[in-house]
Parts: sequence; structure tokens; C-alpha cells
Amino acid sequence: MHKRETWASKIGLVFAAAGNAIGLGNILRFPSKVALYGGGAFIIPYFISLIVLGIPLMILEWVIGRYAGSKGHGSMAGIMGEFFNQSSLARAVGSLGVTIPFLIVCYYIYIESWTLGFAILSIFHKMPHPVHSSDPQLAMMPFLDFYRNYTRPCLWAIVFLIITLCINAYLLYKGVVKGIEFTAKIGIPLLFLMGIILSIVSLSLNHWKGLEGLCFIFKPNFNKLLNPQVWVEAAGQIFFTLSLAMGAIATYASYVKENEDVLKIGLYTAGLNEFVEIVIGGSIAIPAAFAIFGASSIPTLANEGTFRLGFISMPAILMSLPFGWFLSFIWFFLLFIAALTSSLALTQPLIALFEDEMKWSHNKAVSIAVLMVSLGAFLSAFIPEFLDELDFWAGTLFLIIFGFIEIFAFVWLFGVDSFHKELNKNAFLRIPKIFVYIFYSLSLIFIGVLFYFWAIVKFPQYFSHMSWNLIVARIFIVVCVLLLAIASIRSKKFLN
Ligand code: PHE
Repeated sequence: MHKRETWASKIGLVFAAAGNAIGLGNILRFPSKVALYGGGAFIIPYFISLIVLGIPLMILEWVIGRYAGSKGHGSMAGIMGEFFNQSSLARAVGSLGVTIPFLIVCYYIYIESWTLGFAILSIFHKMPHPVHSSDPQLAMMPFLDFYRNYTRPCLWAIVFLIITLCINAYLLYKGVVKGIEFTAKIGIPLLFLMGIILSIVSLSLNHWKGLEGLCFIFKPNFNKLLNPQVWVEAAGQIFFTLSLAMGAIATYASYVKENEDVLKIGLYTAGLNEFVEIVIGGSIAIPAAFAIFGASSIPTLANEGTFRLGFISMPAILMSLPFGWFLSFIWFFLLFIAALTSSLALTQPLIALFEDEMKWSHNKAVSIAVLMVSLGAFLSAFIPEFLDELDFWAGTLFLIIFGFIEIFAFVWLFGVDSFHKELNKNAFLRIPKIFVYIFYSLSLIFIGVLFYFWAIVKFPQYFSHMSWNLIVARIFIVVCVLLLAIASIRSKKFLN
């Protein structure tokens, strides 16, 4: 059996975990959702979901990952197997925890490549300059459309996608310590620095009018609390931003030392992620748009999609400031670093499946994983609607389902007593058993209710529209789910 790596230092582990969670979700997706649902209306369900779902699941994934890692399993297929007698059913169900991050990284990495592209184009003064037009955004709009044209993506888009894939491949070849931990140790401090600079710039725009924009996020609005869609979206955001319900945290947890205090690491991960999401993510895009285009523009902008604020409004605003090219570079480079540390985390579960379960060498595992990701990324680049379709299934629905499965299996099926014992091992704080009962039943019920609403609100919409592009995307999803389930079951023969 090959020797599994473990994180080299505590600080490296904390940074790697933060890098896993902190990503495009914090700096792009969060502000767009907040804007879409009218600021304070979103923030209440968001915090409730954080407490009821986010924290319990975060701790759960660290606990099960540490346990299974000590037995040589790092992918959810192997982890689920380890807890349930290596039954084929457990491994097949667990394989969803490899398929979900894989499907997400197929489009995530394509967006990551835009951020790298826009960062480099900013340095070389190749971004459209907005000062001559009445609305600074007008020049940016056709530029984004030109850059991500599906039938004929521009050459830059393809070049930067290939570069992004190569950077990811290189770091993954280097492995857990020299690749992932190393990147996080440089990337996370840099990310904080760039984030704080941009927050100050955005808040101070237009004589600190940006500050008012920040208040907009936190002004509670109880009217929308009865709208189930807001709850579904808020919980979905918690899963996505904390990298939960997809096996990605559990895979990182499998590389900790056996005596690590995972309760503490889990709380750090959630804390750092929320800091970047609310303080930094909240202080850039929305305040900037608020200061320049006014309060009424916020929902309109958000309605035009997740990329509107980040790829059109932000560069337009920054480019019209002194040293605009440099600020625009910082903005896109911030996004790139955040995305890079997350795309590594999204690919690692697949690599862990290949290495730990199928016993492939590290190089073979990374090569095949990167080839698969490249295929998915090119499909995202060339097929319209592919990206949105994957985000809908893997980035939303599967998360709700798999979150439910995780809590049900690892706490309730495995047994509250056993889970509680594993939870308190080396923990700085003893969690009373009653807390396990309360939190993990609340979270289970909460997800169940969410699923019900999701099913009645959103599901029907998705079958009202059909096209060849959607069919290709759905076939891709089904094939990936089946292939990885079969691989997880058949690799049982390598268990010793
Ligand atoms: N949490 C990341 C983000 O906010 C996305 C991600 C999900 C990363 C799952 C790794 C695993 O962008």
C-alpha cells in the first residue's frame, strides 16, 4: 500500500482548509445572491442555515475524514465504505461525494480561467477602457460576450483555460504538501491583503457612499422570510461556500494526523470562510455598485446573472479610477487565487478515489483526473447552457440530497454514541451528547423541508425547457455518476 501524505504543519492545514472553502462562492456568488434577494432578506436565512446546517456538517466531515483517513481512505466512496462494512451500496452512494465535486470543477475551472485571463489582460491594458461612454459598463458588456462566446470562444479564452488547467495539474502532481499546502500558504495571506485593499477602495467610492451599500446587506427585511425560495438559496449558498455535502472537506480531513483536533480545525475553516464571505465579499462588489450606480441598480444588476457584477460592473468601476488597470488586476487576481485553491480541493476527491481505492500511482491518478476535468471544462466552454446545467444539478440539488445522506448515514445509521465518541477524540472542547441529538436532528429536518420546497418550486421549471445542449449536459452527468459508482464498487477487490 502506498503511504498517504499528511499535512506538514498546523498552519498549513488551516490555510489549506481555508483555501478549500474560500472561493468564487465568497467573492462572486455571495454578493450576487444577496443583491438578488434584496440584502437583509437573504442574510437572516443565511445565518440560520450557517448555524443549523453549516457548522454541524463542517464538523461532521472533519470527523469522518480523520477516521477514514487513518484507515487509508480519502474519497467519500472509501469513507462511506469504511463506516458501513465496505458494502457495495455504501461505496456506490459514497461515490456521489466524488462525482459532485468533479462535476462542479468542470465549470468552476472554466470560470477560474476567465479570472486569470482578465487579470493578465488588465496588466497589459487590454481591458476595454470605460471613461468615454456615459455608462462605464457599456464597453465591458460586449467584451464579456466576446470572451465567452460559446460557438466560437475567443482565442484568449482557450489559451487561458489551457494555462489554468496546466497550473492545476502541476500543483496536483506536486501532491498534498508540496502542491496544495504550499499554494495555500502563499495564496491565503495574499488573498486577505488584496481583499482588504479592494474593500477599502470600494467602501470609499463616491465619498464613502460605498459604506451605505454595506448597510444595505445588513438591514433586516422580514417580508421575504415566507418565500421558500430565499431559504433554499441561502442554504444552497452555505453548502457551496463552505464546500460541504460534496466530500471535498472530508477528503482534506483524511490527510490530517490521527491525533488532530478536528473540531478546532472545522471551526477555524468555517470562521475564516465566513470572515472572507461577509466582511470581504460583502464589502467589494455590492458597495462599489451601490456607490456608483445607486441603490436601485443592485437588484437589476443581480437579475442579469452571477457574472454581471463581477465581470462587467466591477472592472467598469475600477477601470475608471486612477490606476484602474492595476485595481482591475487586483480584483481578478483575487478571484483567481480564491478559485485556484478551491479547484485543487474539488479535484482531490477524484485523485483520492484513484489512489486509495483503485491503487493507481499518484502520477497516473493525477493524469487521468486532469484529463477528465479538461474534457468537462472544454464542454463548458463550447456548449451553451452546459455550465448552468451542471451548476443546477451538482451545485444545488445534489448538495441538498448528499447533505441529507451524510447526516443520516454518519450520525444516525452509524450511531449517535459512536459518532459522539469520534467527535470528542482530542477535541479542545467536550461536546455533550445531547448537542449531537439536537443539532443533527434539526439539520436533518431542515434539509428535508428544504428539499420539499425545492422540489415543488424549482424542479418543474427545469423540465419545461429542452434542448440538445441540455441533453448533452444531462448525459454527461448521468455517465459520470454511473462510471464513478461502478469504479467505486469494483475497486472493492483491492481492499485487503
Ligand atoms: N467553497 C468554494 C467556493 O466558495 C467552492 C468549493 C466547493 C470548493 C467544493 C471546493 C469544494 O467557491
